Amino acid sequence: MTRHLLNITDVTSRELGLIIELARRPIAALGRPLEGAGVALIFEKPSNRTRHSMEMAVVQLGGHPVYTRGEEVGIDTREPAEDIMRILEGYHAMVAARVFDHAVLDRMSSVASVPVVNMLSDRSHPMQALADVLTMTREFGDLAGRTVAWVGDYNNVARSLGEACAMFGAQLRFACPNGFGPTGEELERFMALGSPSVESTTDPALAVAGAHAVHTDTWVSMGQEDDTAARRAAFADYTVDESLMACAADDAIFMHCLPAYRGYEVAASVIDGPRSRIIGQGHDRMHAARGALAFLAGVR
Ligand code: CP
Ligand code: NVA
Repeated sequence: MTRHLLNITDVTSRELGLIIELARRPIAALGRPLEGAGVALIFEKPSNRTRHSMEMAVVQLGGHPVYTRGEEVGIDTREPAEDIMRILEGYHAMVAARVFDHAVLDRMSSVASVPVVNMLSDRSHPMQALADVLTMTREFGDLAGRTVAWVGDYNNVARSLGEACAMFGAQLRFACPNGFGPTGEELERFMALGSPSVESTTDPALAVAGAHAVHTDTWVSMGQEDDTAARRAAFADYTVDESLMACAADDAIFMHCLPAYRGYEVAASVIDGPRSRIIGQGHDRMHAARGALAFLAGVR
């Protein structure tokens, strides 16, 4: 059966552990599973980390990445997503895409005979969550029993991070304004995935109290630019600043998938301060991508 990575929950907890282990394995020990193969990388939205980390991961596994902008391929404008997929799988060992509408990835994977990888959709960002776990496990060791706090918008990054942390047994706390938080159904899903404790509040200090990792992300995701003013007003009390970080555990770290907007979701003194792990987290994107692609290529 062809495996895809559209959401973190497309793999089991054991497989998630294996991907993290593969991400840590020396490159030479992975055996160039993509030797002579292509990997298509289609981007409907801008990217720095995802494009570079995926291209380099493909190269490190012996393959050849082919980058295409969304406008050029024209998913569902120039031709249907299904036709694009059926053609690309004749050239490539895998197809990865960053899309506005997650349903496009579902449609592509439903006709695909090669793995389809989500490089960010409106629903999720699994490649980011893999890197985040890699960074946090390097800091803490096992995530089981650790408390991971999310402050701000419950978005694609938050959902994938929550899924991955739950599957590793971490406690989850979300602080989001009314109307921007996880639904009760989402919170139950995290419990079912393995989190021992899942809480959602509108009070950032409550969510961050004693947390080991404090995460946030932009208040305005790609595609939401028209709502910038309204969103900035709704999230005005959700800046991760030094007084909020003071509520966290003494050795708590700050994380952000980037790009970051200093003065909005995070104060410059926090993101550029000693608790911030953003650069290592960004570098972990490449190691996590290599682990995920190696897993999909069959490396065990
Ligand atoms: N974190 C992340 O996905 O960054 P890019 O949008 O630059 O790829
Ligand atoms: N939530 C952000 C993440 C960017 C990497 C977005 O979707 O734009």
